[in-house]
Amino acid sequence: MMSAEFTSPTDFWPHFVEHYLGQRPIVIKQFYARPLTTAEEVFKGLLTASEQFRAGGHRGAIKFHTERSLKYDEVTEKHFPEPDDNSLDGYAERISRSLNGRRFFVSFDRYQTCDARIYLRVREFLRGLYETTGIPASSSTAVIVFGNYEKTPFGLHRDNAGNFTFVLDGRKRILAWPDEYFSGREDVLYSLDYEPFRDDAIVLEGQSGDLLYWPPNYWHIAESVGGFPLTLSVGNFSPENDASAKFFKKLSRSIEQRVRGAVGAGLYPLNPNQLQESADQLPLLAGQLSTALREASQDTQLAQSLRIAWLNRMSSFGFQAVPPPLPQSALADEDVCCVDTHYPILWLHADNEFVCSANGHAFSITAHPIVLQLLEQLNKGESCRIKCLLDKYAGTALVNNVEVAVTREDLRSIMEKLWSLRALTRTAQPHASVSTS
Ligand SMILES: [Fe+2]
Repeated sequence: MMSAEFTSPTDFWPHFVEHYLGQRPIVIKQFYARPLTTAEEVFKGLLTASEQFRAGGHRGAIKFHTERSLKYDEVTEKHFPEPDDNSLDGYAERISRSLNGRRFFVSFDRYQTCDARIYLRVREFLRGLYETTGIPASSSTAVIVFGNYEKTPFGLHRDNAGNFTFVLDGRKRILAWPDEYFSGREDVLYSLDYEPFRDDAIVLEGQSGDLLYWPPNYWHIAESVGGFPLTLSVGNFSPENDASAKFFKKLSRSIEQRVRGAVGAGLYPLNPNQLQESADQLPLLAGQLSTALREASQDTQLAQSLRIAWLNRMSSFGFQAVPPPLPQSALADEDVCCVDTHYPILWLHADNEFVCSANGHAFSITAHPIVLQLLEQLNKGESCRIKCLLDKYAGTALVNNVEVAVTREDLRSIMEKLWSLRALTRTAQPHASVSTS
């Protein structure tokens, strides 16, 4: 099973949810037997982020701040790690040199899109939590923070989400205060002038392997304890419900498209000498709006896109940004593959197609009983040789009383797609033949 070593300890989450989630901060020493990831792996992940940035992606995801500057630096390629840096230490040296020794802070949001291993491990981390709480309506994200900054450059602040911070390398210190502590002292917020209140702070300090947690309503700031601490923060449980916000956006766009013609070029009909007649025009527009609302409620495309969004949310465990698919690779007859039963291929049946989703990526395939049988077989989690699956399932079946064929190549192509989405992984040997049940 993928990432099993990053399964949360048994019974951890019910206790955590009851006593800490959304309530108070905590440091959990050595949460896993080994750190969630290493500095070497993060360096490679950030090289991927750098490639994405150079290709025009990852914009807005990196924030870079030089000590004693009043605002963030404009990010360019030089702010990212380069292969010649060889390591995060090399990256830190180059950046420090370019800043003439001034300290710096850098954060990379949506890091899970740059390192699929991290996405899979964090998914496993969240699995036990969501088993206890349900999945938050807001999205999750993973942020790498690195640097030798003295204090978080943007000062005392609150994030819009709860924060699980894995200390990957070095030591990390966070000072935190409950929401109400700064009531009446608002001038301190978003500044570095918190010294008079320092003694009242809850101090969260951890080293490599430790996990720090603080709820979304806590004011906090990071302080240096030396070196270049490296952390990965998973933000989730935002009080903002971005899922419903997206739903209303879709709905309003759908209605807007329907009534746009009703208002013409931004003008309503008006005869100033016959205002009553002009006022009578309103029911016409209202009627069109009413029709648009009725049509939107029956809009199968809108309903379908919401269902797909829901499938992707489930299959991505709440990450909106997910790693891109692997380049498609041919699956040979002798390859052996399996699905992790913790993360089955999800699908819904809509009209003449199945919409499948794995790791936040949805795709459609023609609805056919043979395809359904294959998906059900794969979701049993047995290691199967591709040839065995093709021998067993390729053939014909009745669809609307007509014999319809599904070829070996059709099935192979579906499995190749699933492999590229990391739903299907290659394994060494089959430990079970394809069952006949
Ligand atoms: Fe923060």
